[in-house]
Amino acid sequence: MEPVNVAVIYYSSTGSVHALAQAAAEGAEKAGARVRLRKVAETAPPEAIAANPAWGRHAQDTADVAEAGHDDLIWADAVLFGTPARFGNPSSQLRAFIDTTGPLWFAGKLTDKVYSAFTASNTAHGGQESTLLALANTFYHWGGIIVPPGYTDPIQFQSGNPYGTSHVAADGLPGDVALQAARHQARRTVDTTALLKAGRAA
Ligand SMILES: Cc1cc2nc3c(=O)[nH]c(=O)nc-3n(C[C@H](O)[C@H](O)[C@H](O)COP(=O)(O)O)c2cc1C
Repeated sequence: MEPVNVAVIYYSSTGSVHALAQAAAEGAEKAGARVRLRKVAETAPPEAIAANPAWGRHAQDTADVAEAGHDDLIWADAVLFGTPARFGNPSSQLRAFIDTTGPLWFAGKLTDKVYSAFTASNTAHGGQESTLLALANTFYHWGGIIVPPGYTDPIQFQSGNPYGTSHVAADGLPGDVALQAARHQARRTVDTTALLKAGRAA
């Protein structure tokens, strides 16, 4: 059977979500998927980025990561979205990308794909679940199949978020537990998508 196509599409200012995205891409690849790791376009003005050294540094470090486009969504059987929390919601940069997808949605090109999401926030109760749930509203509108990690692996009892991998950025960049959780989430996404793909091909 054809391998599953997975797009990992994310936004990150200072590297936390980027690290989770890389781990998700690794997990998906290890599960046998073809993977595209894509950042969404930056929309913040250069002055805002320059005012935060960590932001500027991360932008430079990830200059070679390709930007997400509609073709990535069309190509993908499953999409893992990553975003930092912004007042308990997804970042405006990821929303800006999602808000360009009206024509794809209207043409039915986003339906029946598998969607899953991960996030970071600065504080433990700073809105990780609300960010993931807010993002999931879009998946419902697209007619997507949402695959959450739940507590389907022992790592979930350490990472602790059944809605999607999440990281508290005030603790530094994601450590082993969060990265393992991201790999598990990606693997589960690939496994579920593979079953659907095989069923549809039969
Ligand atoms: C405008 C703005 C809003 C934010 N809102 C929240 C929030 O609601 N809760 C929280 O814990 N952190 C919040 N943060 C912190 C970010 O979520 C945190 O810096 C981010 O998750 C780090 O991820 P990154 O390194 O991938 O950019 C906010 C940051 C900004 C700039």
